[in-house]
Amino acid sequence: MPKINKKFMKIWISVLTAIFFIFLSSFSSLHYFMKISGKNDFKKSGIESGKLIFYNLGCVRCHNIRALHIKGGGMGQDLSNAYYNVKKIYGENINDFLKNPSGMMRFVLMFNHLNKEDRKIIAAELKKAQMKVKKYKSAKNKKGGA
Ligand code: HEC
Repeated sequence: MPKINKKFMKIWISVLTAIFFIFLSSFSSLHYFMKISGKNDFKKSGIESGKLIFYNLGCVRCHNIRALHIKGGGMGQDLSNAYYNVKKIYGENINDFLKNPSGMMRFVLMFNHLNKEDRKIIAAELKKAQMKVKKYKSAKNKKGGA
């Protein structure tokens, strides 16, 4: 009898552990989903309104924007330099790039079409980010860094 109980206990412990982890992971993914789907009120957590757009439109799933203190997924590049890079690589500004994107972003935006207002805010925010990077770099250069 005590032998069976021990076995029984072991099974229960593993079942409970499994349930606990499933609960934990679904809870954290739910939390993540809520964050990117814009159901949360980010004003409460102190995020400036312009930056909200990157959360609301799910850009943060794949992009960091360190210059704006936005920490996101690493699938896409950090967008801190996008204002400059997009011009350099694609020969167009952010607004035009988002209107008619190439590469991966073409697929992303196929299912998540941006309207004129969205593009305007994104372009303004990415310009802000770029200005911050520039400031940072020139400040660093003055100090004699690379
Ligand atoms: C599913 C992941 C994913 C999501 C979501 C996503 N991106 Fe991207 N994005 C990428 C990848 C990957 C690239 C690199 C594209 C390439 O080189 O083809 C990219 C490239 C870009 C670029 C060009 C950057 C550069 O320096 O060349 C911009 C701008 C951009 N994304 C903006 C956005 C915005 C704005 C959103 C939200 C509306 C967004 N992305 C959402 C994956 C994503």
